[in-house]
Amino acid sequence: MLDYTALWYGESVMSVSPDPELIDQAVAALRRGELVGMPTETVYGLAADARNASALRKVFALKQRPIDHPLIVHLPSADHLRLWADEVSETAWTLAKEFWPGPLTMILRCAAGVPSEVTGGQETIGLRVPAHPVALALLRAFDGGLAAPSANRFGRISPTRAADVSAEFGEALPLVLDGGPCTVGIESTIVDLSMDAPSILRPGMIRAAQIEAVIGPLAKASVYPRPRVSGSMDRHYAPVTPLLRVDRTTLEEIAGRDEQVRVLALGTPPLGTQGLGLPEQPELYARGLYAALRELDQHRARQLLVEEPPDSPEWLAVLDRLQRAAAGSGEESEPHG
Ligand code: TXA
Ligand code: MG
Repeated sequence: MLDYTALWYGESVMSVSPDPELIDQAVAALRRGELVGMPTETVYGLAADARNASALRKVFALKQRPIDHPLIVHLPSADHLRLWADEVSETAWTLAKEFWPGPLTMILRCAAGVPSEVTGGQETIGLRVPAHPVALALLRAFDGGLAAPSANRFGRISPTRAADVSAEFGEALPLVLDGGPCTVGIESTIVDLSMDAPSILRPGMIRAAQIEAVIGPLAKASVYPRPRVSGSMDRHYAPVTPLLRVDRTTLEEIAGRDEQVRVLALGTPPLGTQGLGLPEQPELYARGLYAALRELDQHRARQLLVEEPPDSPEWLAVLDRLQRAAAGSGEESEPHG
């Protein structure tokens, strides 16, 4: 069995240990029906008691998220699956055993009595056990499920640092637990187990091939009528600066000539251009992507040119986020939805 916690945590990040006093404060706030900024290994979440309908409505209000978009419930361990899912198949147990704690969300048929705010009125529920020491400490102390969408305003870039969460919500969210920079950096892989054949609804750093190695072939998602997934909208994860995906040559040609352009390069940015570079390994690129987009978006440049990563399975999740970021970019107001 692979240990995803170990795989994705550099030693420095493993040393982020939960502060018991802050965990107590956070649990008390959650029990009062308040929201808490929670680090996970993927992105920061905006956490609420998943059994408390009025707390859940605060999540939608703060995020400005449409009420019918379902939330992922974070659990302290796979033992809690039975409390939230109606039928837990062999396949679900197998995936939980292999990938939890870790960046994998499973969609299962929902148990009775879960607030409709969590499910968006659907018969399914998204569940995951995050691999972050602070999240796990919080979940264990709370001893229940925490609904947590990414802690950003609807349609915008997910936060991967505590400061990004505070920048997003300010005083409206007084308690943000700082768990350091997220080590995965993009949202979890979502696998739908509520249909006859499992399929991937949202690509993430756990790839299809890794899932297929454990549970066999996945179906193509488009074969079935899919449940609603806000991350599946064309526009999402978007900077305000218009974002264009280009190859290296175009990047060099345009960015070298135009001072109003910023670049996000693969590796070192070309000489004479202004911007940032991210490592050419998909894991490291994903880890830095959202922080880089936030940083580059600050300049309010005329255009943000992003060098296109290779079109291969290891890059699929990154390419997915870049595509949505491009589609939703260039709008000061909320994107569609
Ligand atoms: O990595 C992650 O998954 C992060 C961290 C905080 O755990 N969370 C996250 O949440 O990305 P959010 O709400 O930004 O995206 C969750 C996605 C949404 O697209 C939502 O529609 C989908 O999961 N989802 C949740 N429950 C679902 C369900 N029952 N059926 C289909 N999609 C569901
Ligand atoms: Mg999100």
